[in-house]
Amino acid sequence: MATSGNKNMNAKLVLLGDVGAGKSSLVLRFVKGQFVEFQESTIGAAFFSQTVAVNDATVKFEIWDTAGQERYHSLAPMYYRGAAAAIIVYDITNQESFQRAKKWVQELQAQGNSNMVMALAGNKSDLVDARKVETEEAQKYAEQNGLFLMETSAKSATNVNSIFYEIAKRLPRMQPAANPAGMVLMDRPAERTATASCCS
Ligand code: GTP
Ligand code: MG
Repeated sequence: MATSGNKNMNAKLVLLGDVGAGKSSLVLRFVKGQFVEFQESTIGAAFFSQTVAVNDATVKFEIWDTAGQERYHSLAPMYYRGAAAAIIVYDITNQESFQRAKKWVQELQAQGNSNMVMALAGNKSDLVDARKVETEEAQKYAEQNGLFLMETSAKSATNVNSIFYEIAKRLPRMQPAANPAGMVLMDRPAERTATASCCS
């Protein structure tokens, strides 16, 4: 589904999920291509940006990596309000983190932008022997709730670029007329940016 002309868009994206699910690790992998075994727990939130190329367009993601600790819960609306996309992250080795992810989905469905593109990331897919959340269970949940599921690994890099690329493809800029008001998708002048492309 190609668009005409040269489209350069910004899209606010928020990551939500339980403590230790791997939000920061996914962002670090996507933005810097790195992984650390002892990633520090996020305080408040952290901001990153990264650009992906989709067909003849680029999407510059403005990424808010939120803190999973419960004491920061009340800050979350600041980050998901106006967001064009969200990645809700759970850890496939931790059933509780999957339950927490469902709570985030409910909160976004109630409070978030109704046209938000939502991805469910079942992270730590490299830890196959410790799996506690079956793919089928998560897939079924995702389908019933209007998200798409990808099992990711920040450690091995599996599906990390792909999940952002898939979100970029699903953003409503592909149908400019259908782009609803209130969504943070702005044209920006063409500029030279480092562009990560993948998954052709
Ligand atoms: P908060 O900031 O506290 O909300 O946590 P977070 O969701 O940002 O988790 P973080 O990225 O800090 O990761 C927590 C721990 O899990 C770190 O020690 C990471 O190294 C580890 N981790 C993250 N992703 C993966 C993964 O894909 N595979 C494995 N094996 N470990 C991972
Ligand atoms: Mg973090």
